[in-house]
Amino acid sequence: MSFFTSFFKKNQVDIDKNNLPRHIAIIMDGNGRWAKKRGLPRNAGHREGSNALKNIVVFSDKIGIKYLTVYAFSTENWKRPKSEVDALMGLLLEYLKNAERELHGKNIRIRVIGDVNGLPEDIKKEIARVDKLTAKNTGLSLNIALNYGSRNEIVNAVKSLCVDVKNGRLSVKDIDEDSIAGRLYTFDMPDPDLIIRTSGEKRISNFLLWQSAYTEFWFTDVLWPDFKDNHLIEAIKEYQSRHRRFGGA
Ligand code: IPE
Ligand code: IPE
Ligand code: MG
Repeated sequence: MSFFTSFFKKNQVDIDKNNLPRHIAIIMDGNGRWAKKRGLPRNAGHREGSNALKNIVVFSDKIGIKYLTVYAFSTENWKRPKSEVDALMGLLLEYLKNAERELHGKNIRIRVIGDVNGLPEDIKKEIARVDKLTAKNTGLSLNIALNYGSRNEIVNAVKSLCVDVKNGRLSVKDIDEDSIAGRLYTFDMPDPDLIIRTSGEKRISNFLLWQSAYTEFWFTDVLWPDFKDNHLIEAIKEYQSRHRRFGGA
């Protein structure tokens, strides 16, 4: 019995392992409401959210997902009170620091997508370290979207195209979808097959706008800190029941 067959059997994971989404992206929303419901400060929700993420990363890898992109901090999240932004940055730094012990050994690759230059120095340093450390890992690719905004990403791609045109490296008639996709943070990844958003909100909030042209969406009322393996399985099962047409008949 192969590792996967036995793992799926033992854990009663009844998903079709031959039709897994290659790339899952998650908008991890609802930390604040999770805390409020318990009379706790919002930052307690963020801490619990970070724990939920640790679990889902390891589980996704176990069931054979190749790419997992998680929305951790948007370009718009700077609008929050400084104390909350500081707490989020602290948790992200801690997450990256622990990644070596908890994820590198599991052959997981960790990258950050987003405007890294706009992040505090200590986080920038840690991102570079973890990126280098895990660059050759061949298990799950975890992309943490940090200071990420899809419109900003597209603006940067357009700027880079303009520079190439101006310098004569590219002619306008050769600009196509690949020349844009190749200038996004996700240039070497497949588009997400499935986007999950927790907490009952049904919007995209500036996440992977270009990349989600044909993505399947799955929404749940579960708040992110409560999101567990069984919820991911439920999302994958629903994904597997859908018929993706990509504009075809
Ligand atoms: C998601 O939870 C985490 C981030 C956006 C950083 P929220 O903090 O948005 O939680 P709610 O939406 O207020 O409940
Ligand atoms: C989206 O959640 C960003 C992250 C999960 C990091 P928000 O809570 O910031 O989104 P809105 O403001 O409800 O659209
Ligand atoms: Mg929110």
